[in-house]
Amino acid sequence: MAAMLETRDLTKRYATLTALDHLNLSIPEGAIYGFIGPNGAGKTTTMRIVTALLKPSYGEAWVAGHEVSREPKVIRKLVGWMPDTFGVYDNMKAWEYLDFFAASYGVPEVRRRQQIGELLDLVDLGNKRDEYVMGLSRGMKQRLSLARTMAHDPQLLILDEPASGLDPRARIELRELLKELRALGKTIMISSHILTELAEMCTHIGIIEAGKLLVTGEVNQILASLQPHRTIEIHVLADAERAVELLRHLPGVRDVRLIAAAPLPPTTVPGTAHEQIVSETQVEVLPGIVPRQAVLVDYVGDDGGLSRMLHQLTVAGVPVVHFAGQVSDLEDIFMQVTRGVTQ
Ligand SMILES: Nc1ncnc2c1ncn2[C@@H]1O[C@H](COP(=O)(O)OP(=O)(O)OP(=O)(O)O)[C@@H](O)[C@H]1O
Ligand SMILES: [Mg+2]
Repeated sequence: MAAMLETRDLTKRYATLTALDHLNLSIPEGAIYGFIGPNGAGKTTTMRIVTALLKPSYGEAWVAGHEVSREPKVIRKLVGWMPDTFGVYDNMKAWEYLDFFAASYGVPEVRRRQQIGELLDLVDLGNKRDEYVMGLSRGMKQRLSLARTMAHDPQLLILDEPASGLDPRARIELRELLKELRALGKTIMISSHILTELAEMCTHIGIIEAGKLLVTGEVNQILASLQPHRTIEIHVLADAERAVELLRHLPGVRDVRLIAAAPLPPTTVPGTAHEQIVSETQVEVLPGIVPRQAVLVDYVGDDGGLSRMLHQLTVAGVPVVHFAGQVSDLEDIFMQVTRGVTQ
């Protein structure tokens, strides 16, 4: 995959403070890249440099092969930038706001008239077209701001904390919107200091702290490299002790633990007037539903060994109903790689 954004030894000093320290990052075309770090880590500084708004003290950055300091005009065409502040545009209506930014990027009037409707629909603000920006909620302003970054149809979207201040529903909507944009062929770089905000939607991440990139790459690879062993969770309907004995002797297994009965997933009971969600406590009285037992396996082997593990259990007649690796999330990665250094 070709790199849409690449930096080499990118460094920024403010007087005595080194805000960015030889940053080397690479964002493949089509990626959703989560740029994660605590306050003051250097996220906004990096983003402002790669959008040609700020000059680095040292180092280089390329967007689609164009060096940022040497070709700032080309960069502004290629990049859509969403700052972490909205600015004051209170006396404008939503459509005027988009028209204003599209015009400033030189989009012809005929094209603007057509695309404003499309952009407002994309961010679900079609019905707010003639409302004053002042009267929009924070979440709506964020979405309008996102629409604005796309006014000149850029290839790379750089979004600085787009989810900050949004309620949970608005965050989910933002996530869905970013996935749609990716499907339209955009590459997206998105910053946040809240890891779980990005966990679901990113293909790649970079963790920055005190101006240094601590880790970068594909989310899955980073997860795998930081996990010396995996924990496999197995639920059985019976024979848990026998399963533990069997598992203990398999290759790659370091430890096996039997834990308390596993929580049952909520089950719908068909046949009632309104199908109801049955909670764990109600389940015990339902005929035909057997409480599960859970076994945790610390495992250091590969996927082939895992598939043999499941095969051996079923061949031995153990009634397995669930077999899955426990996924550690980005929060875990963050705790592993950051040292709590702040500037
Ligand atoms: N114009 C400036 N002059 C001096 N120092 C600055 C300037 N802009 C940023 N800094 C410093 O550079 C460091 C990195 O700031 P930056 O805004 O890039 O961090 P950030 O990761 O975006 O943080 P946040 O999560 O708070 O937005 C901070 O220590 C900040 O105080
Ligand atoms: Mg910032």
